[in-house]
Amino acid sequence: MINYTLKQLYSFEAVVRTKSFTKASKELFITQPAVYMQIQKLTENIGADLIQTNGKVIIPTFIGKKLYQTCIEIIDKLENSHSEIQQTLDPEAGHLQIAVATTTNSFISFVLAKFKKQYPRMSFYLDVTNRESLLNKLTNSEADLIIMGEPPTDMPLITQPFMVNPLIAIAHPDHPLLSKKHNTIKDLTNETLITRERGSGTRITIERIIGMKLTSDIEINSNEAIIQAVQAGLGIGFVSKHTVKLELENNVIKQLNIDKFPVTRHWYIVHNSKNKLSPIAQRFKEFIVENGDLQ
Ligand code: PGA
Repeated sequence: MINYTLKQLYSFEAVVRTKSFTKASKELFITQPAVYMQIQKLTENIGADLIQTNGKVIIPTFIGKKLYQTCIEIIDKLENSHSEIQQTLDPEAGHLQIAVATTTNSFISFVLAKFKKQYPRMSFYLDVTNRESLLNKLTNSEADLIIMGEPPTDMPLITQPFMVNPLIAIAHPDHPLLSKKHNTIKDLTNETLITRERGSGTRITIERIIGMKLTSDIEINSNEAIIQAVQAGLGIGFVSKHTVKLELENNVIKQLNIDKFPVTRHWYIVHNSKNKLSPIAQRFKEFIVENGDLQ
């Protein structure tokens, strides 16, 4: 096993770079004999001379030059990782990795904008994807926090609901089913249903509610595109009510009255119970729960 210590490598790097024990000791805030001792121990550990003096100037030997290159790389990597860790741990300036269900598109940017205003030095990476992919991220701990509907119950998770997520059926304003005051799930059997892709939480919920697997001709992996498709008269779509507020207000699409709809679900903020949240992730979680709307 290699038994050089970081102190030895830092001392060696400083001596070679500054070409002086005095300068190195000042930089490292240790005495000159202490620097000398570190270099001696490193020399013993390696079993070869690392530096030589040419008059008053200190220069590395052939092996010293090789080790110096390695030292630069190691110290560089360590310093970078240290500053990244410090940044993550800083509750005001940390980095947040957040993964969210596609459907949260309608509100997640607003939430993050509000949060960023409160913590301007924080940074985040937002991953927008479907339920199946979110479950993989949870398994592999690939995000600090995840926002999804209906978290799985067979995984070691900490989950907290923070907002309602009403799922509705939408149709073109001229759709014949709109003329009926009430429709049943059976009325949907002869209709063209526009479905989300496999792996989508919306799709899984609709299949559960209507009690059968969807086998639609039209599958679209974006809520925005589904809304457009409904407006174009392609068929009936199912989306979170929050994603169609404007379209409903402007009457470019209509909400269908169907048994069991709207399906009221919740948005959850979720993380793996095995992982400790970083300060910024903890703050974001508290923020979203405080600013959520469970009514
Ligand atoms: P989805 O998830 O975007 O994968 O459909 C949304 C949900 O679970 O409601």
